[in-house]
Amino acid sequence: MSADEKLPGKCLACNRRQAIKLGAMGAAGLAMGATFTGCGGEPSGLEQDVVLSLADYPALGEVGGIANVPSSASGFEFEIWVIRQGEEDYLALSSECNHASCEVDLDGSDGFECPCHGSKFDLDGTKTKGPATADLRAFDTQLDGETLTLKA
Ligand code: FES
Repeated sequence: MSADEKLPGKCLACNRRQAIKLGAMGAAGLAMGATFTGCGGEPSGLEQDVVLSLADYPALGEVGGIANVPSSASGFEFEIWVIRQGEEDYLALSSECNHASCEVDLDGSDGFECPCHGSKFDLDGTKTKGPATADLRAFDTQLDGETLTLKA
């Protein structure tokens, strides 16, 4: 199974990533007497700005439109959801669920749902149901004509 596959298989990628993070943190944590119970914590951030041509995302042509930016287009390890909230107002959310780093999917038009353990989020990324413990990470956006930059 590929690490890039969605659904619970994505958790395998999480486990590998988290194992590296937790391994590094665990060594330091053990020295301080801390314990680690598994995945979770702060969702990942962008390492560099992501520049999108809005022409590539026709769903964003209208206010209320939602587009999925795949990892292959952004270079980010998770899909990014972009929501056009106003004429010049865009919200960009990481699809990473902080519970175990699965990628959330659209849940109808009301928000997002994590396929792994059922966490839910509003369209603005606010967590409405656990076991996730954090909102989806939002990236600052900057509109310049037909280009939208997601800021690192
Ligand atoms: Fe468990 Fe999202 S990874 S609810």
